[in-house]
Amino acid sequence: MMFNIAIFASGSGSNAENIAKHFLSNPKLKITLIATENPNAFVLERAKRLGIPTFLFTMDELRNGSVLSKLIEQKIDFIVLAGFLKMVPVEMVRHFNNRIVNIHPALLPKYGGKGMYGDRVHKAVIAAGETESGITIHYVNEHYDEGDIIFQARCSVLPNDTPETLAQRIHELEWEHYPKVIETLLEKMG
Ligand code: GAR
Repeated sequence: MMFNIAIFASGSGSNAENIAKHFLSNPKLKITLIATENPNAFVLERAKRLGIPTFLFTMDELRNGSVLSKLIEQKIDFIVLAGFLKMVPVEMVRHFNNRIVNIHPALLPKYGGKGMYGDRVHKAVIAAGETESGITIHYVNEHYDEGDIIFQARCSVLPNDTPETLAQRIHELEWEHYPKVIETLLEKMG
């Protein structure tokens, strides 16, 4: 079976690019579009360079069902959130039941929830004096960061870490694992 995948991202898009490059070698997995609500997101530039169609939408379109209609029209089978910072509407979660995954830059259930994203997470982890952090890949449900956990990987938090140095270590874990975890999930589905 061939899977049409949509990646949603709100910012830089390093994960989106990394996943897209990884899947180039897999004829069964196609990144059909890269979607964002942020007209200034660098992920749009990355998509252009990779030759992947982009889909820029407004928050109204996300909430009123137009985004879901577009995904259905494009025959999307699976959604990957990669630094997408908005809530996925419940209609979309229901339509794509267990077919939306997210990556979170900490070890959920700690340091998750609304407003916990990117450097805010790393700042909170350092402020709490944690000696360990990591990544969590999970299914998306109606609540921020609460869907079933699929995979976690850990890394150290060093005494002299800043949010930036920790973010770099976390990104390296994300780049290593996210494409492989998605690939394994889709192979099981297909
Ligand atoms: C990633 O670290 C991802 O885990 C995080 O945003 C970053 C996006 O980086 N996501 C969240 O914080 C979601 N709550 P990227 O744009 O370079 O892929």
